[in-house]
Amino acid sequence: MPQLPPLKIGRLTINPPLILAPMAGISHSPFRRLVAGFKSPGLFFSEMLSARHLPYDVKKKSLWLQSSALEHPMAWQIVAPNPEEAALGAAHLTQAEIIDLNLACPAPNIARRRAGGHLLSDLKLTDSIIKAVRQAAPRAMTVKIRLGKKPDLLFLRELAAIIEENGVDAITLHPRLTTEKLKRRARWEYIGHLKTMVKIPVIGNGDVNSREDCLKMTAQTGCDGVMIGRAAVRRPWIFAEIGGTEQEISPEFLLRTYEELFNEIINFFPPRMAIGRIKEFTWHFSTNLKFGHRLAARLQSLKDLEACRDFIRKNFITAC
Ligand SMILES: Cc1cc2nc3c(=O)[nH]c(=O)nc-3n(C[C@H](O)[C@H](O)[C@H](O)COP(=O)(O)O)c2cc1C
Repeated sequence: MPQLPPLKIGRLTINPPLILAPMAGISHSPFRRLVAGFKSPGLFFSEMLSARHLPYDVKKKSLWLQSSALEHPMAWQIVAPNPEEAALGAAHLTQAEIIDLNLACPAPNIARRRAGGHLLSDLKLTDSIIKAVRQAAPRAMTVKIRLGKKPDLLFLRELAAIIEENGVDAITLHPRLTTEKLKRRARWEYIGHLKTMVKIPVIGNGDVNSREDCLKMTAQTGCDGVMIGRAAVRRPWIFAEIGGTEQEISPEFLLRTYEELFNEIINFFPPRMAIGRIKEFTWHFSTNLKFGHRLAARLQSLKDLEACRDFIRKNFITAC
C-alpha cells in the first residue's frame, strides 16, 4: 500500500493517519488493547463521555478514563448540551492529549438531552460550546460531525467556518444525515467538499471496510486521515491489514481472538458491566462466522458470564 503521509493534529503527529473510531459500548480499554495487539492505528478514541459526569468520573477513577501505554495517543470524546457542561468536562480531562467534541451522535438518549448531532440544528449554540471547550482546555481539540438534517453544502460551509475560526485542530466528518442509520451509504463526496472548505486536517469516516476502501477514500476525497469503526470490531486486525500484513483467518484464530477479548473484559469490568460489553462485541465479531448471527442471537439470552463462556466453548467452532 502506498505510504499515507502522517496527520498533524495540533502539535501531535498521527502516524499512520488511521484512527480507531469512538464506539459507545465497544471502544473501551480491553478492546483498544486487542486492536493494539495486532497493530495500533495512529490514534485511539475513548467512548463518548458525558461532560457533566466527568468531575465525578475523574474523582472515582472511572473505568471509562483508564487507558494503558499501548492505547496511545488517545482522543477523549465528550458530549454536552451547553457550554457550561462542556467547559466543566473539558477542564477535568487533564490527562487528555486531544479532546474531541461529539456533534454527531443521533442516539435518542443523547438527542433528548439536546446534545451530540442534535446541536447541529443550532449553530449559535454549537459555536458557544466549541468556544467553551477551547477556552477550558489548552490542548489539541477535534470535533466529529455528521451532515445535519439534509445534504447541504451551504450549511456544511457555515459549520466548517465556525469550527475552523474557533481554532479547532481537525474535523472528522461521518457523512450521513443526523437522522440516518448506519445502513445507508456514507456520502464520501461530502468529505471531498469539506476538504475544499477548510485548511485544518479533515478525517473521513464511514464504510471503510478494507485497505482498498481506505485508499479509495483518501484518493477520492483528499482527506488527511481515515477513521474506522465497525470494520475494526469485526476484524480487530484491520490496521495490520491496511499496513500490508495479511492475517490468516482460521476458526481457531477467531476463537482465540474472541476469547482474548472475553477474558480481558471480565478482568477489567465488574460482571454486570462485562456481560453487556461481551454481547455487544459478539454481534459484530460473529459476522466472521458462517452461522455467527445465530450464535450471537443465542448468546444474548444468557444471564451470566459462566453461561456465556460455556456456550462459546461448545458452539463457536461449529458456528464457523
Ligand atoms: C456501536 C457503535 C457505537 C458508536 N458510538 C459512537 C460514539 O460514542 N461517538 C461517536 O462519535 N460515534 C459513535 N459511533 C459512530 C462511529 O464512530 C462511526 O462514525 C460510524 O460507525 C461510521 O463508521 P464505520 O462505517 O467505520 O463504522 C458508534 C458506532 C457504533 C456502531
